[in-house]
Amino acid sequence: MGPPGAGKGTLGPRLSTAFGVPLIITGDLMREAARRSDALGLKIRSFVDAGELVPDSVVTQVITSAIERPDVVAGGFILDGFPRTLPQAESLSQILAERARKLDLVLVLEIDEQTAVERLALRRQCPQCGAVYHQRFFPPKQAERCDRCGSGLVQRSDDHPEIIRQRLAVYYQQTAPVIEYYAARGLLGHIRATHSPEGVFQSAMAIIRKRVPAHQPVAG
Ligand code: AP5
Repeated sequence: MGPPGAGKGTLGPRLSTAFGVPLIITGDLMREAARRSDALGLKIRSFVDAGELVPDSVVTQVITSAIERPDVVAGGFILDGFPRTLPQAESLSQILAERARKLDLVLVLEIDEQTAVERLALRRQCPQCGAVYHQRFFPPKQAERCDRCGSGLVQRSDDHPEIIRQRLAVYYQQTAPVIEYYAARGLLGHIRATHSPEGVFQSAMAIIRKRVPAHQPVAG
């Protein structure tokens, strides 16, 4: 968890590689659905482009089918961007309980609003492989081209200043209570996300080692 721009999408793939478990990125699933021109795709796009949360029922259905895959259910997984509301948190508890699984840990990346806006306004992403860049902090080697696959980089439709501010407001109104929900259950680990991506990754690893020692990294 963490506000827009905190670095969830930067940390997630590193943890997924380190522990050899799949990463389920709700924002990517929503953007993928929004690219389809059917009624559901158009509905989802209207929420994403406005910086609003997609309705709980839609997101929960998408997440349930992502978790449903046998390899995911059996081997464990990392969630990025879900849950973001209290009803979503309740749904997740139910989905996991029905599959005899439990949540081990909730990591919260913390940054101030100004840093979030600075990061998002200059973010660029590869539409093919999902690699994330920042025009000032982590520019690609060749301007506007992905280092990994060579595709042209794009700016996300919701990375414009007024939409970024709306996403931050939505986070503090609707998602902050979910942090309280997990605090009450003793599941939270806080990370100062203003360090370098490597520093954030090392902080996450230190918390995981301490709080869930049963999970051993398989790499990195
Ligand atoms: P989503 O895609 O999840 O967006 P978000 O939460 O706003 O988060 P971001 O992806 O913008 O930021 P991030 O924290 O991943 O940062 P990143 O690593 O990219 O959701 C988008 C939309 O989908 C929502 O608005 C909503 O409509 C819908 N949605 C998704 N989940 C939903 C749900 N559960 N319920 C309902 N609707 C939902 O980093 C940002 C930039 O900073 C990058 O350029 C990066 O290079 C740079 N950076 C990262 N780390 C560092 C660092 N340590 N130092 C310097 N720069 C850094």
